Amino acid sequence: MTIYFQEVEQVYQPKTPHEFVALKNVTTQFDEGKYYAIIGHTGSGKSTLIQHINGLLKPTKGSVYVNGTRITAKTKDKALRDIRKHVGMVFQFPESQLFEDNVEREIRFGPQNFKMNQEEVLNRAKALFKEFGFQEDIMARSPFQMSGGQMRKIALTSILAMDPDVIILDEPTAGLDPHSKTQVMQLIKRLQKEEGKTIILISHEMNDVAQYADEVKVMRQGQVVETLTPRELFSDTSKVEALHLELPDIVQLQKDVEQRHQTQFARTALTEEEFVAMYKEWQHER
Ligand SMILES: Nc1ncnc2c1ncn2[C@@H]1O[C@H](COP(=O)(O)OP(=O)(O)OP(=O)(O)O)[C@@H](O)[C@H]1O
Ligand SMILES: [Mg+2]
Repeated sequence: MTIYFQEVEQVYQPKTPHEFVALKNVTTQFDEGKYYAIIGHTGSGKSTLIQHINGLLKPTKGSVYVNGTRITAKTKDKALRDIRKHVGMVFQFPESQLFEDNVEREIRFGPQNFKMNQEEVLNRAKALFKEFGFQEDIMARSPFQMSGGQMRKIALTSILAMDPDVIILDEPTAGLDPHSKTQVMQLIKRLQKEEGKTIILISHEMNDVAQYADEVKVMRQGQVVETLTPRELFSDTSKVEALHLELPDIVQLQKDVEQRHQTQFARTALTEEEFVAMYKEWQHER
């Protein structure tokens, strides 16, 4: 499922004193099966951009193509039903949208709404709960008697269990404990690797961007100003500075080591394993 933004503009509260152009002439593409990170400062338009992919927002100008279906300002919600089945959207703090008093009903709600096979969705949810380390009785429990982190995983599962081709996540790990953060990030990566899902992740966490994404889209003032690989981005320190972004910890460590030893490694490592391998080789050659 290719997603293509063609000269998309989004104006909030048009023709009022609060009018705000949140997307300006955005042309950009997301290819099937890739893992994208969208980064950029607060207010740069990240959440606005992704809400076009399932038609929650329609462009005020331009078009968004999702799997060949064109979404414009005039597109009717009825025409978006099929797209919404295939595009799973996990909002910021999705636990705030839980409303059923038992987990099974919460899981059933989505497939009921979309007239999908509820048992299949329940089975996928059970497997995901297992992966998250929940006990078997989870389905019968109330989400409202759980911790924030557990509620987040239930909300996430309710979307992922519907098996969307495209998974969009708006800061899914914000506020989670470190163990849960890793669990969520590794699950998402597995869904891309093993099931061929397209992932679109909004993140402020450069460590995750470096470790998981295939491509990064940098947003600034309502525009996508860069599309490049994490390695291209993080090995270009002046670009990172110009965009007022931070370096991942591992890249910062490499820079410190390079400075201390007055040397430069062949390439920028994006993970600890990569750095350790490079460092050992360098020591060996010295
Ligand atoms: N409903 C709205 N009405 C008016 N302005 C809005 C509305 N929603 C968002 N905006 C404005 O549009 C701009 C882009 O907002 P958006 O939420 O897309 O940014 P973001 O990049 O997701 O930021 P953050 O990192 O803080 O989540 C912001 O300046 C915001 O104030
Ligand atoms: Mg946002």
